[in-house]
Amino acid sequence: MRTAVFAHRGSKANRPENTLPSFEEAMRVGSDGIELDVHLTKDQKVVVMHDEKIDRTTNGKGQIKTYTLDQLKQFDAGSWFSAKYKGEQVPTLVQVLELLSDYPGVLNIEFKTDRNVYPGIEARVAQLVDRYRANLPVVYSSFNHESLIRMKKIDPNAELALLLWERLADPWRYTQQVGATAQHLWQPSALSETAVQLHEHGIKVRAWTVNKPKLMQLSFEMGLDAIITDYPEVAIDLRKSYEK
Ligand code: G3P
Ligand code: MG
Repeated sequence: MRTAVFAHRGSKANRPENTLPSFEEAMRVGSDGIELDVHLTKDQKVVVMHDEKIDRTTNGKGQIKTYTLDQLKQFDAGSWFSAKYKGEQVPTLVQVLELLSDYPGVLNIEFKTDRNVYPGIEARVAQLVDRYRANLPVVYSSFNHESLIRMKKIDPNAELALLLWERLADPWRYTQQVGATAQHLWQPSALSETAVQLHEHGIKVRAWTVNKPKLMQLSFEMGLDAIITDYPEVAIDLRKSYEK
């Protein structure tokens, strides 16, 4: 089995993370999957950003949830990365879904509901995915497993992945209880006996964030289902030697 390469927050090392250029670049280099993070604005719009606060990746300050979408769109989400991306805006999930409307790879939507619960975010995302990506692969992940359980109630066919830092005892039992088909594990936890145990129970293992070539190679050798990386182009290139 070939280990899939997912681009973390788009092509994070080469473009401002979680922006349209980062997703364009992830597609251009041939990523098998694209991971992104979602939050809700004050006026309940789903936007794509990693942090709860806009301070690190825009020229603004404060929590996403205190801004309306129009207000959030005023901030520059590109200059912090490079002057080349000055004026880049925080994208809505709709904009990303439009961009990825023909992208055949996996779209991994992470609910950033671990600090702010964002009531209703799962239903809003489900509605948008149904509109823009009904027949294309989507995996929902979250560190807040209640968010995943809510998603399963909304869409019983939703493919769920538990985000975890640490290894669990009997990891398959809990995964099955939540109704998930995969674990997205912190790389040191994924590159372990847990991966073997999960595979024995038919559960997929995707590791994050795998940026070092040596760890990419180890992931390929262990037959992980995917790595989530800031350097999809490096991983895709390295993987070629395992395909000969
Ligand atoms: O989904 C994998 C990874 O993105 C989880 O951590 O903090 O980068 O969202 P984080
Ligand atoms: Mg994430």
